[in-house]
Amino acid sequence: MKKKVTVIGSINMDLVTTTRVRPDVGETVLGETFSTIPGGKGANQAVAAARLGADVTLIGCVGNDLFGQQLRQHLQHENITFCEVAKQTNKHTGIASITISDHDNSIIVVPGANAEVTEEAIKPYVKVIAESDMILMQLEIPIHTVEHVIRVASRSNVPVIVNPAPFQMLSNDVMEKVAYLTPNEHEEKRLKNQGDFKEKLIVTKGSEGATVWKNGDSVNIPSYKVEVLDTTGAGDAFNGAMAVALSEGKELIEACQFANAVGALAVTKLGAQNGMPTKKEVEHFLIDRKRREDT
Ligand code: RIB
Repeated sequence: MKKKVTVIGSINMDLVTTTRVRPDVGETVLGETFSTIPGGKGANQAVAAARLGADVTLIGCVGNDLFGQQLRQHLQHENITFCEVAKQTNKHTGIASITISDHDNSIIVVPGANAEVTEEAIKPYVKVIAESDMILMQLEIPIHTVEHVIRVASRSNVPVIVNPAPFQMLSNDVMEKVAYLTPNEHEEKRLKNQGDFKEKLIVTKGSEGATVWKNGDSVNIPSYKVEVLDTTGAGDAFNGAMAVALSEGKELIEACQFANAVGALAVTKLGAQNGMPTKKEVEHFLIDRKRREDT
């Protein structure tokens, strides 16, 4: 039986420019390519989890505009149940302006309709949350909603993974209730100021892999070397994979190894969601890597 993973989070259209040179302040340069690609941390993580075989529901909001229409269709195509809050919003669909040069990216997000994902707006979906096997959230929707969902899920003993990106403080009572937090190294430093939640941390370190804590000791789970084209969404691929693996009962380190493979495959293609691999692709990748190690 497929596990029910519910993502409450952002949905954006990514406006992706590739360029050899980045402009200085006040300068204009000519770029190389431009594409519009579905994105948003919430939607990216939902797509990752769905392609890996979970039964995924995404609670979020898009605007009544062309991007909104395209993203609704896209989610349907990815077999994701989209619980759309605030259908009548006059806010525009969330966008992310992404510049990629030297395989590295910089991103400006304008949340638009993502701001409609309020505590009040998600009330009709409390049952969906309570009946999930795993909840996955990020911080591109209002922080009070994230905190509210953690409290609701905790009452029903549903585990919650929070990817604290972009970083904001969560209140201490909810930090105690989450199962795992998945910061990158910068976010981890800021989380440390908030108390000792070490045992809940899964720290993502890009090409260095991920670090978890077991019986008080840190354990690094190395990543896989691949040819990097675009790192956008690598963390989302990792998070989606962790949600699936942990909901299926995989042990923490094994789940991280699987999620590292998913993250590695994701960076080999341009665009956050374009690179999210299917379960089959991950299995082939891992068999191939094992074969190479053995020879
Ligand atoms: O994590 C990558 C995502 O961050 C992009 O898809 C963009 O939409 C921003 O939300």
